Amino acid sequence: MKCVQSYRRLGRPRVSSRPLRGVTRQANSSLKHRISIDQLETCAFLTLPESAKQCPPPGAMGPQFIPADSNDEQDRLLNELFMPPFRKGYVRVGPNKVLLPLYYLDYAGRIEDMEVRDSDVWIVSHPKAGTTWTQEMAWVINQDFDFEGAKVPLPERFPFLDHTPLFDYTDILPNLPELQLPLFVSDSVTYINEMKSPRYIKTHLPWELLPKQIREGTKKPKIIYVARNAKDTCVSYYHHCKILEGYSGSFDNYCKLFLGGSLCFAPFWPHVLNFWKRRDEPNILFLKYEDLKKDLPAVIRKTAAFLGKDLNEEQVDLLAEHLSFARMKSNPAVNYEAAIEINRRFNLTTADGHFMRSGQVGNYKEVMGPELIAEFDRWTQENLAKSELTF
Ligand code: A3P
Repeated sequence: MKCVQSYRRLGRPRVSSRPLRGVTRQANSSLKHRISIDQLETCAFLTLPESAKQCPPPGAMGPQFIPADSNDEQDRLLNELFMPPFRKGYVRVGPNKVLLPLYYLDYAGRIEDMEVRDSDVWIVSHPKAGTTWTQEMAWVINQDFDFEGAKVPLPERFPFLDHTPLFDYTDILPNLPELQLPLFVSDSVTYINEMKSPRYIKTHLPWELLPKQIREGTKKPKIIYVARNAKDTCVSYYHHCKILEGYSGSFDNYCKLFLGGSLCFAPFWPHVLNFWKRRDEPNILFLKYEDLKKDLPAVIRKTAAFLGKDLNEEQVDLLAEHLSFARMKSNPAVNYEAAIEINRRFNLTTADGHFMRSGQVGNYKEVMGPELIAEFDRWTQENLAKSELTF
């Protein structure tokens, strides 16, 4: 019973007319210990009927709610250190127990059932793998070097599908009338559904939570997956979560959450490997941040070929310059300074820092000690042993 009743900071109950098929399909498989589709839907809105107040059993594949009074160390760290005003709790979803904010359940069904278009260009990644860099590259190439159009903020021309599920502003907005959210923030799924083709879509959702039409192959958008080594990803994600997502703990505790698969979109390795094993599919391109750093022109050429565009060397050089760290750091359309400023202005997060932070491979060495590095390396080797993927 405690499982659901003890969520902290419960919001006022909300009303939904949307089914949650993406998640509940799995929850439906063992109803003896699970909550039913209708009950689960209610559960997402925190008005669960008495009969349904049961935690799914350990190992269950359906959504697993994280109680505020959990004794599990990972849950406890999350509850204590990662509960900003725009987050009311967390849930683990699917066979890999992907961690997501509770608010995701409001959108899961719509994402599962969304109409994908063959002309879409998707960038999929674990957070902090070089998503923004890859987005800008793909957009400029596919839009035939429309640098004027590239002055429009990236989140508007290349929206983030799972943006809204990450930030639940429903209880915040009534108290902050000055905080005006554009549709790509307040309802990213509707914004994307209404976009003209070709659409550009960013997501951090892992393969198994992408829309059904992609998973089942009935639609074949171009999908670029970008991956980055775990240590740099973790350090970058730590800074990101402090400045943009309200993490209030130490770096050591953050690493525990990262290694334990308890940060949004974790676990890390299944996220990467589920795309790695699909890397030869014609509509999937697998890139690595480290390769963009090593030879950006080569990656630009490869991406252009994937998108069916011919580039001359002058264009490759021009784009490589546009995508340099210095240029991106000072480019307001892609550097997220405005978003960080809004967070500060409305006291949603307080930490200092920049989205375009170090832009390096191996930056982890500045903050990780030898033991932690060894732990990450062991973990990486264990997870990559059966693949040919290296970083
Ligand atoms: P650091 O925090 O290590 O600096 P994402 O877009 O997935 O959130 O990833 C952000 C990371 O990519 C940040 O890493 C950011 O600095 C880096 N990045 C963004 N643009 C870059 C560029 N042009 N060159 C190198 N790194 C870049």
